[in-house]
Amino acid sequence: MKKIGAYSNTHSFPSWSFKFPRIVLFWHRLNRLVTLRYWYVVPKIKALVKDLPRGAKVLEVGSGSGEILFTLPKHVKLIGLDMVKDNIQMAESISQKLNRKVEFINQDFLSLEDEKFDLIYMVGVLQAIPNFEAAMNKIQGLAQVGSSLALYIPIREHSRWKLNQWLSKKIQDADYVQSHAQGKHFPLDSFNIELESRGFSLDETIITYGIFGNLAYQLYLSLNYLTQALPFALIWVSLIWWLPGFLILFLLYLLDILWPNSEGRSALILATKQRP
Ligand SMILES: C[S@@+](CC[C@H](N)C(=O)[O-])C[C@H]1O[C@@H](n2cnc3c(N)ncnc32)[C@H](O)[C@@H]1O
Repeated sequence: MKKIGAYSNTHSFPSWSFKFPRIVLFWHRLNRLVTLRYWYVVPKIKALVKDLPRGAKVLEVGSGSGEILFTLPKHVKLIGLDMVKDNIQMAESISQKLNRKVEFINQDFLSLEDEKFDLIYMVGVLQAIPNFEAAMNKIQGLAQVGSSLALYIPIREHSRWKLNQWLSKKIQDADYVQSHAQGKHFPLDSFNIELESRGFSLDETIITYGIFGNLAYQLYLSLNYLTQALPFALIWVSLIWWLPGFLILFLLYLLDILWPNSEGRSALILATKQRP
């Protein structure tokens, strides 16, 4: 019997689940409680969208199953792009269920035609694109003077607990571990210089995942790997660790937010294009 881990890499979902997008939606909602990007990142992206005029164009690169797009204001044109077909199909079926007008494109970001957007954002995606220079060139090509950019990137090595390193090798397929789990990190100073050299001015940098956030992230990974090791028929068993786990994660993230972070594992960078 296939293990859950066979399907869950890069947020792709098994084909049977396309019939039950509400289950995925339920997962999105739980994630909102215990995933840092919802606490720090999504409110900032929402605020940027809110300030855009009606009909402005917003592009999420690496939109997965549309988790963030579906929470955004509706007066703009929302576009999600992802290279994994399963993700796009799932996002489309959720969009139908929610009756939300979002356009989804199944394509590699690097091969996207140059077209201008008013806001471009990438959450946890830039580190997964092997050719950094090409990705930055593409971002530059899609932005016009006045466009906003929001990038959520790791700024420290994706260090993993020994247990999680071992579990990831056991459970995930080698290509995935190679391309994603060991993900790159970006030195913040040189990254900011890079953006400025490409005509962007920095508006704000928010450091996330301090000590408690990182603890929560490692715990989240362990619980996820345990779940991925289960065969599908036994998925309910994971409630034994997810029910208390969600509460502990919630409390750890709360502590992380209350504790001022001068250093962290990731950063949200907000910038505006000032010159071509
Ligand atoms: C960690 S997931 C993040 C999903 C979503 N942004 C979120 O926060 O819920 C990274 C996503 O980026 C997509 N991705 C990675 N490289 C890409 C590329 N070159 N072009 C388009 N999508 C890409 C993956 O398929 C995956 O869905």
